[in-house]
Amino acid sequence: MDQAVQIARTKRAFECIDSGQTTTTPGVKRSPVAAYTDPKWLDRELSTVFKRYPLFMGLSAVVAEPGDYVALEHSTVPILLVRGDDGIARAFINMCSHRGAPVARGCGQAAGFICGYHSWTYDRAGALKAIPDQRNFPGIKPAEYGLTQLPLIECHGMIWVQPDPEGSIDLDEHLQGMLPELQSYQLDSYVHYERRILHRDINWKMPIDTFLEPYHFSTLHKDTVAPIFYDNLCLFEGHGLNHWMAVIRKSIETLRDKPEADWDFVKHTAISYQLFPNTIFTMQADHLETWRVFPLKNRVDQCVIYFDCYVPEPVTTEKAKRYWDANIDLAIRTVDDEDIAIQVEMESNFLSGAKKEVLIGQNEPALAHFHWAIEKAMAGE
Ligand code: FES
Ligand SMILES: [Fe+2]
Repeated sequence: MDQAVQIARTKRAFECIDSGQTTTTPGVKRSPVAAYTDPKWLDRELSTVFKRYPLFMGLSAVVAEPGDYVALEHSTVPILLVRGDDGIARAFINMCSHRGAPVARGCGQAAGFICGYHSWTYDRAGALKAIPDQRNFPGIKPAEYGLTQLPLIECHGMIWVQPDPEGSIDLDEHLQGMLPELQSYQLDSYVHYERRILHRDINWKMPIDTFLEPYHFSTLHKDTVAPIFYDNLCLFEGHGLNHWMAVIRKSIETLRDKPEADWDFVKHTAISYQLFPNTIFTMQADHLETWRVFPLKNRVDQCVIYFDCYVPEPVTTEKAKRYWDANIDLAIRTVDDEDIAIQVEMESNFLSGAKKEVLIGQNEPALAHFHWAIEKAMAGE
């Protein structure tokens, strides 16, 4: 991050600490409970929010080498991400051209993809290479029946895919000025350390909501992250439908006695970028954690969460492994055992139909922005 930006943000953090007031929005937002319970609301999200915007797929490290692949089954279309022999990352709809079976599952390394139903075979660039008993498919030219490709952009070590083969990606337009800051983290050299996949009984927006305000730190997280961060204090900036929100580590106090040229805002904060629609991308001082959330089986009250941890260099020692494992343990303990545990109860409360709306305070600007962005994208249908 540019040093002038680090200085400006550190000064802003000190202003908030000294005044005891966080970044605020004008007025309280009334948020409809239907956003978490109404199947028609989810249908509209699936046809707009999850269709028209590029999805963050992870860092380049998830498919570091030719043949590395990841299958993502819970998007609106099943996606297969694979790096070709030419080093280019491509995305396809993970459906065989014969009868539509998935050609890959999970993740791994593959010389090509052999469909598990009748063995139609595709190479790493999605081209159809073999049709068993081809004489019974007269007029079917293999060159025309490769996997359906999806628009993909790989830049600065990050990958986005448009889940619509007819769509296109304009990242500058989508991120509205946020890309240079993401680029400044030099993520092309990061390595993928671990993935956890969680299926939980809550609406897909809830795991994202929980990252978007530190108002709950001293209550819900009093024994986990509350001792590390200031409670109810954040910096926030909107970028179109996306935004970032920074929570401040108490260690930032050590900067007050140092020259501004040495102020390291990133080290003394956790900056969560909300990459619209479904990703929280958190720079955690010395590593990156991402949380991507999808509705599960078109259910308004179920989601799947992909947690990924990326670290700046390959992990080669037991000491480094213990360090990163402890970081992951804290992240999962905080989010799954504390945030998601109470959200499962909230989802159940919401489904009772007893309340029509809930409130987002002026001190929760990022949360208000996320719900505003969802509603704006849905209104564009
Ligand atoms: S469905 Fe893939 S080979 Fe038949
Ligand atoms: Fe939380």
